[in-house]
Amino acid sequence: MKGLILSGGKGTRLYPLTYTRAKQLIPVANKPVLVRVIEAIHDAGVSEIGVVVGHTAPEIQAALGNGSRWDVSLTYIQQDRPDGLAHAVKIAREFLNDEPFVMFLGDNVIEGGISQLIRDFAENEWNSQIVLKAVDNASAYGVAKLRADGSIEALVEKPEAPPSNLALVGIYMFDKHVFEAVDAIRPSARGEYEITDAIQWLIDHGHTVFPHIHRGWWIDTGKPTDMLEANSHVLEEIPPCIAASARIDTRSVVDSRVTVQEGAKIVNSILRGPTVIGQDTLIENSYIGPFTSIYHNCQIRNCEIERSIILENSRVIDIERTLRDSLIGRNASVKRSAEKPSGIKMNLGDHSALWV
Ligand code: DAU
Repeated sequence: MKGLILSGGKGTRLYPLTYTRAKQLIPVANKPVLVRVIEAIHDAGVSEIGVVVGHTAPEIQAALGNGSRWDVSLTYIQQDRPDGLAHAVKIAREFLNDEPFVMFLGDNVIEGGISQLIRDFAENEWNSQIVLKAVDNASAYGVAKLRADGSIEALVEKPEAPPSNLALVGIYMFDKHVFEAVDAIRPSARGEYEITDAIQWLIDHGHTVFPHIHRGWWIDTGKPTDMLEANSHVLEEIPPCIAASARIDTRSVVDSRVTVQEGAKIVNSILRGPTVIGQDTLIENSYIGPFTSIYHNCQIRNCEIERSIILENSRVIDIERTLRDSLIGRNASVKRSAEKPSGIKMNLGDHSALWV
């Protein structure tokens, strides 16, 4: 069994963060989503993994290297244009070499990993296994309609009027028949070769596609609100840990569900978990509330922050009101200014949003 991670695409819904960074590399609980995907595949016993990359290839390769850090071997597959998930399968054919494989979208995070799914696929004679999850907003996803006996009647990509509430999760298992399917289908109305159409082709041509219904949480980290939700879920799962080189002074109160990484310094502050503070970050005279991830080399002074993600090298200083539900990119600076006339001053990137 091989693995295929899809890490190309444009990431426009996460602008402005994705102007300068591949969306799959944005950290959730201080670890890039793409690394979480590699770990999930590795934990399921699959170590030969192809990574489909687009225009952000150099950044992704620099972050992941050859995969030896996670005890896997990574092969990069260049996709010149984001022509769709089925197109990504098509160009990975040589790497996959007709072996069964698990395809994992590089922006998906799922509770509980995929080991059981891989075992089920290996033990059955299915040509494909897909993962479904009941959601409220099915029209944002591929959607499956099941028959009374639980088999799949039809699959449709982002329908205006969804035939059910069962969304396709970005985790799929295939045998070699999928290559016939991706060759046979035509581009959809949005101009992409849809994996949803390829799976429908398998069903229409008598191949067995088993629908597994996932009961835990699942997040497609496409939008900022999804990132914050994924962050909250993952923070609840990770075992807390205070690094030996972290420094917490006696005036600080750090509860039992907080992770403080190497070299971080906590001075006269209250940290309420689940929360993670990154390497060499300084938290001073501040309150960091639940569901917050502050990445490496940040400075937070005289602030209150709740349910937020702050990326590396950023500064949040002397802010009087609680900062909450916020996503702050790299090298950003949020400060109080004593200058007159008073007012709000900003340098915001394209597609930024500010709520005052
Ligand atoms: O997340 C689950 C959903 O993923 C499914 O419910 C949909 O059926 C499926 O089409 C897909 O929809 P999205 O619109 O969310 O796909 P997105 O364009 O965000 O791409 C998913 C991942 O695949 C992302 O990491 C980028 C990568 N990708 C995407 C395209 C279009 C590629 O590597 N190559 C591509 O050509």
